[in-house]
Amino acid sequence: MDAIQSLGYSVFFEDSLTQLVSYIEQGNYSKIFILTDDNTGKYCLPLVVSKLENRSYDLIEITAGEENKNIDFCIGVWKMLIDFGADRRSLLINLGGGVVTDLGGFVASTFKRGIDFVNIPTTLLSQVDASVGGKTGVDMDSIKNIIGTFTQPKAVFIDHEFLNTLPQREILSGMAEMLKHGLIADKSYWERLKNNIVAIPNQELVYHSVGIKNNVVLEDPHEKGLRKSLNFGHTVGHAVETYSLDNDENHLTHGEAIAIGMICESWLSYKKAGLSQDVLNEIVSVITRMYPKYEVNDASFDELAALMKKDKKNEGDEINCTLLSDIGTCVINQICTVEELFDSLRFYKGL
Ligand SMILES: NC(=O)c1ccc[n+]([C@@H]2O[C@H](COP(=O)([O-])OP(=O)(O)OC[C@H]3O[C@@H](n4cnc5c(N)ncnc54)[C@H](O)[C@@H]3O)[C@@H](O)[C@H]2O)c1
Repeated sequence: MDAIQSLGYSVFFEDSLTQLVSYIEQGNYSKIFILTDDNTGKYCLPLVVSKLENRSYDLIEITAGEENKNIDFCIGVWKMLIDFGADRRSLLINLGGGVVTDLGGFVASTFKRGIDFVNIPTTLLSQVDASVGGKTGVDMDSIKNIIGTFTQPKAVFIDHEFLNTLPQREILSGMAEMLKHGLIADKSYWERLKNNIVAIPNQELVYHSVGIKNNVVLEDPHEKGLRKSLNFGHTVGHAVETYSLDNDENHLTHGEAIAIGMICESWLSYKKAGLSQDVLNEIVSVITRMYPKYEVNDASFDELAALMKKDKKNEGDEINCTLLSDIGTCVINQICTVEELFDSLRFYKGL
């Protein structure tokens, strides 16, 4: 499995942790920092450290969870980098899921005007999506990823073994972004995924998803056009995710929220973008088979609308969605009214 070439860096799959060691050797870094959360510190760090042998590093750990992907935790990490004497020739290794890679990438891209960072994604979601493409950032005031930068990692090292300790709910979360890759760009991949719902998707499927995302990113790194296709499911999905974070004790995972978003936005695609009813039914049936139903109550609609209006993808007051005209074909920049979005939520509620 050859490394995938992205925007000036490689995504390694084969012997990826050995590749990490060579990368560090060649980098001539003054200091190495590893950022984990409390779970990846426990489940993933030992394997990485065993490969580093006696190379020295400083460990920085944050508390796991989307609720901690915020500027306060960045300040904590920046302070630790200062206390540990990080300079411009330091390397930050982000070892974790999308929360660690998004936050760590942002911290590195802004510390001393930018230090090198690499990602070792340890969730399925971060392997197939978050660790590749150069979007870094944190949430603020209940708006997802509103503060951030486009900064590419220096390399990404994907090791399938990390998925063995990942809870099944987190595997399903990552599957949502894989399904999205099929829906927006690759009908035959969607066909394969929908017929092969397994406990842990194999490495070849992870590789395929990274390839789809990478092709989009290579063509449009700063989301002026094609990259908006990756936002399918995310207008409604991000709003539902934030609502759940703020209101539910056992809140939705990112992928569970995106799964709801993909159902709503497929319905909008049927209404506005020429998606056929049969294809809508197929998408709904695959997603509802995989993900538990979430109770969206009528009282939450106004709050969801307010969240969708604050989505960073909008221009002016208009709510901008990415829709599908068929499986594998996207239409970007589709303006949806609040009432249309409410109708899509009613469709989801009625399933
Ligand atoms: N930058 C991007 O392009 C991009 C794309 C998609 C999603 N995202 C972001 O990614 C985030 C979601 O990422 P996520 O789903 O990886 O969530 P996460 O980072 O919160 O990880 C999920 C849970 O799994 C735990 N975990 C991680 N690796 C583990 C392992 N190997 N074994 C056991 N437990 C492990 C974590 O501690 C956490 O509790 C969201 O903030 C989302 O906005 C970013």
